[in-house]
Amino acid sequence: MSEVQNLFDEVLSFYRTRLNETKSSATPMLKEVITRLEGATALTAPEPHSLGGARHWDRVIENLDLPIHQDLRDALSVAAPSFHWMQNPNYTDDLMGSGYMDNYGFIELVGSKAGFYEAESVRCGLLLLGPGLHYPAHNHAAEEIYHVLSGDQTLWRRGEEDWRMHPAGTTIHHAPWMIHETKTGAQPLLALYCWLGDGGEAKLT
Ligand SMILES: [Fe+2]
Repeated sequence: MSEVQNLFDEVLSFYRTRLNETKSSATPMLKEVITRLEGATALTAPEPHSLGGARHWDRVIENLDLPIHQDLRDALSVAAPSFHWMQNPNYTDDLMGSGYMDNYGFIELVGSKAGFYEAESVRCGLLLLGPGLHYPAHNHAAEEIYHVLSGDQTLWRRGEEDWRMHPAGTTIHHAPWMIHETKTGAQPLLALYCWLGDGGEAKLT
């Protein structure tokens, strides 16, 4: 599926650029992820599948703020009709808050649930959260990097640290089992997520 292949190539190119631009605690993981993505293999494409939260898609694309990554923006738009949107099976409105499930979703670009590619112990894809949502404190065994693509007023918190605003273009790194949470502002959030390592789904703490 050439539009998804193109998105995969643009994500890899985005990661390589980020690796060269900035050094941070996320650098060693990003380096390892790039190596593993270079060895990724294509899977049978999942059936396209939509969810309530996907209605925020047009807005996240409008707000996408990646001046030096116009090709990634174009690749996202073109590949979007092929996406298989899904949700963490551990999450419900009772746990997450009223209306959460109708305003949240993710797609796997690389992964074993409904991914387009597989790579050794790497999962990567897109997380979409509607405006005014709180993704409560949770953790998981995998190490994680988020790159915020769209949504300027999103707050992120790691462990006992203060809440931090992370506009589009910024990176958030979570060590294995580090507790983290996210709050969206008036704009919906689109973030590229990446997991390195095995272990189960994220669970609320
Ligand atoms: Fe996470």
